[in-house]
Amino acid sequence: MQPVLSIRGLSKSYKGGLQALKTVDLDIQKGEIFALLGPNGAGKTTLINAVCGIVTPTTGVITAAGYDTRKEYRAARSLIGLVPQEMHIDIFETVWAVTTYSRGLFGLPANNAHIEKTLKDLSLWDKKDEKLQALSGGMKRRVLIAKALAHEPEILFLDEPTAGVDVELRRDMWNLVRKLRDKGVTVILTTHYIEEAEEMADRVGVIAKGELILVEEKKTLMKKLGKKQVNFELAEPLGALPEGLSGWDLQLADQGRRLEYTFDTTADRTGVASLISRMSELGVQFKDLETKSSSLEDIFVSLVHTPKSETAKELQR
Ligand SMILES: Nc1ncnc2c1ncn2[C@@H]1O[C@H](COP(=O)(O)OP(=O)(O)OP(=O)(O)O)[C@@H](O)[C@H]1O
Ligand SMILES: [Mg+2]
Repeated sequence: MQPVLSIRGLSKSYKGGLQALKTVDLDIQKGEIFALLGPNGAGKTTLINAVCGIVTPTTGVITAAGYDTRKEYRAARSLIGLVPQEMHIDIFETVWAVTTYSRGLFGLPANNAHIEKTLKDLSLWDKKDEKLQALSGGMKRRVLIAKALAHEPEILFLDEPTAGVDVELRRDMWNLVRKLRDKGVTVILTTHYIEEAEEMADRVGVIAKGELILVEEKKTLMKKLGKKQVNFELAEPLGALPEGLSGWDLQLADQGRRLEYTFDTTADRTGVASLISRMSELGVQFKDLETKSSSLEDIFVSLVHTPKSETAKELQR
């Protein structure tokens, strides 16, 4: 299938020479939720802004639904909705005015039913006549989403949509994004909340220092990461693994005081219950046990890990 968004050889050097994006190639399929993860300054916003025409790419070609985002700017832009990371809003306008105006900007006829539904979906309906200055930060962010949806875009970019949004509303927002996806809208979001990517995304991209260093189906990623460990703190240290426990992937640690069992959470049977009963048969007793699971966070940290000395330098800047 033809991707709804195609990015080829995209690079961006800002004035002053900073290369914010090296060569980025990425295809996004219609109806997918793609989460872009990366540390501060990695180039996420630059990438999104290049697609949306806010940043002029240094090299590369981007097409949205087949339209070149530079040569066929208007057609491409009308298909795209953007919720920017930075808020630029007119605080003296009302929620209703801002949202309907945004639709008008795209030359579309008024559609009050659509605006009403969008505001209701974002729990903003009771605020529709409030001026933006009277709203909280999280509410203003939701107004930005309503604005971005006013012209019924096919591709929606959400740059840190849930920064500063409380837990309950974050869930509402996730549900809204899923509803949009079910209607065929493609969603590309950036986030610093790894659980957000875990919860929402079909695919995950990790960007670091202007390079897309990983693009993977979330399911595949989670499978790779879907290892869990149970650690048994033993009542009596063991000198070696008993023969009778050779059927499990076990390791002795902490001078025989801890027995570590690693298993695949996606397997039909984890083997934990049978291991415990076998241990009891063999008289291997434990005083305590803890479980550990790997997550997207682990892979993210290992991928973008910078040596401590560099981090220290950055902090001093
Ligand atoms: N207008 C600009 N002029 C010069 N440099 C810029 C400009 N915008 C961004 N940069 C630089 O480009 C790099 C990438 O910035 P970008 O905003 O894309 O990062 P990001 O991944 O979105 O980070 P964050 O998680 O903090 O939002 C940074 O080093 C930043 O300082
Ligand atoms: Mg950013």
